[in-house]
Amino acid sequence: MSGLIPQHFIDDLITRADIAEVVGRRVQLKKAGKEFKGCCPFHDEKTPSFTVSPDKGFYHCFGCGAHGTAIGFLMEHDHMDFVDAVESLANSMGIEVPREEGQRPARSYDALFELVARAGRYFESQLKGNQAAIEYIKARGIDGGTAKRFGIGYAPAGWSNVLDKFGTSREAIDRLLAAGLIIRKDNGQHYDRFRDRIMFPIRDSRGRVIGFGGRVLADEEPKYLNSPETVLFHKGRELYGLYEARQALRSIERLVIVEGYMDVIGLARHGIDFVTATLGTATTDEHLNRVFRVCEEIVFCFDGDRAGRAAAWRALENALPQIRQGRQIRFVFLPDGQDPDSFVQEHGAGAFEEALNTALPLSDFLIEELSRQVDMNSVDGLARMAELARPLLSKIPAGVYKELLTERLAGVVGLPTEKLESIIRKDVARQPKHSSMPAARPKPRARGTGNPSIIRRAITLLLHQPGAGQSLDVEKLVGVSKPGADLLRDLIETVQAEPTITTAGLLERWRSHEDGRHLGTLAATELPESEEFDAGAELANCIAQLAVTARKDRIDFLIEKQTLKDLSELERSELRALSQGSAFSG
Ligand code: CTP
Ligand code: MN
Repeated sequence: MSGLIPQHFIDDLITRADIAEVVGRRVQLKKAGKEFKGCCPFHDEKTPSFTVSPDKGFYHCFGCGAHGTAIGFLMEHDHMDFVDAVESLANSMGIEVPREEGQRPARSYDALFELVARAGRYFESQLKGNQAAIEYIKARGIDGGTAKRFGIGYAPAGWSNVLDKFGTSREAIDRLLAAGLIIRKDNGQHYDRFRDRIMFPIRDSRGRVIGFGGRVLADEEPKYLNSPETVLFHKGRELYGLYEARQALRSIERLVIVEGYMDVIGLARHGIDFVTATLGTATTDEHLNRVFRVCEEIVFCFDGDRAGRAAAWRALENALPQIRQGRQIRFVFLPDGQDPDSFVQEHGAGAFEEALNTALPLSDFLIEELSRQVDMNSVDGLARMAELARPLLSKIPAGVYKELLTERLAGVVGLPTEKLESIIRKDVARQPKHSSMPAARPKPRARGTGNPSIIRRAITLLLHQPGAGQSLDVEKLVGVSKPGADLLRDLIETVQAEPTITTAGLLERWRSHEDGRHLGTLAATELPESEEFDAGAELANCIAQLAVTARKDRIDFLIEKQTLKDLSELERSELRALSQGSAFSG
């Protein structure tokens, strides 16, 4: 084996690896909320203080302080060196480790993509031979052209069709497992995951099939079965039908986000191609990042029932940090009992487009929902509404939109805008109060300027929630020269360049860097975990504080020089500009 392992491969591997699975094969883990808990394998203990966070790709022991990524775990636990750990992890995921040799690019996932593509073609071919499946598709109003465009197929009944056809060697079986197409039984035998189901291939942005959704023909449970999370397929990241939409349309002005496979297909059947679906999950940041790369206007389309409104509200909450000048986010609620598919079948494309045109802007939906939750006729109710609006407004990046919405809300609750604004600011300042683990609560922060702990705090926040660094303005750090400032800048630039990077991904990037060990320690410290806690706002706050400090330091320095009569012309005008600026925001 020669050549270096490319960094992007490590990035990808660590993002896609399931640390709970890696650790879980060696340590008994129990699910605890979003994390897993178990007895620490690195020290002797009877009560579990070892936690594994799949989201962060990170493990940590509160008892002995051990912590690290999936790669780090293999190194510590199985006493492997770095390269062996990477290879072992990659093997368990059914992929090969590429090496940088000459100019040839790494092509490690090719075999897996190829297998999934072949499986997709196989399902498609099986559809032709199965009358019941063809009839089901027809009964749902799908014509041949649409079926073909979406690559709809059929997984035959029986336990080993895919297994027999593709699992012809040990490696082939490993690959089928890694692709989620077969399932391993306790006795080591395997069987097909998808049996007697209509198959919907899920394609990535380049059109490669990465997974499947499978629907039963009759009324059975579960109605839909999806590919599990694999190295190719991540539910929280993928959008069904987005590739097909981009193929169908030369330019996309708006995108409708729906909930189901059949909604996308039903609408496409009626010529409404600008539609995409999340895959049985709430709309995530990553989904929104992807749709906003395609166009600036999105319309969420939900059922009119309570579940639909609840889903819409979750979408709204996730969309708030994405609000920018020029972007439009709106909501459509269909009549109770109808989804986009049934609506368009019954009322036609015109009626659906009509519904889109009367979609509720995000701000209206927000105010409408909040008004529903309180008694608008009482002072208490209005005060409560301001309370409810607070965490929501603090998620919106500063800008005209935020100002206008704040103004409108202030009007609704009958407060002067500045008053509501100051209430919202207070929220940012008091966030760290909530913690699920009181014992390890962070020490009270010194709020004064010039405190290096602000940088540490910012780095810690960024490590815990890399996504929160998306909209930070690194420019603001110009002139901040405290220890750690360069590291903070590098981290921000990294998370902005790699929007999907996880905690583990950052730690792997810095593995051989002298700061790497410090980063590990900071990643292992605890942050408050409450609904209200908003890492993005807190981070922005840290950056703002640092910027203020930097300016004050510079002013002090220049004043000192001035008293020594040592100020150049340039510095004199800089000082003038700086002191004027500070009059506004000091
Ligand atoms: N879903 C899922 N697993 C389930 C049920 C639903 O993954 N057991 C996801 C699927 O992506 C599905 C979407 O949630 O398309 C919406 O579910 P539902 O409203 O139940 O399905 P419909 O799309 O209306 O399905 P159909 O019209 O085929 O009955
Ligand atoms: Mn439906």
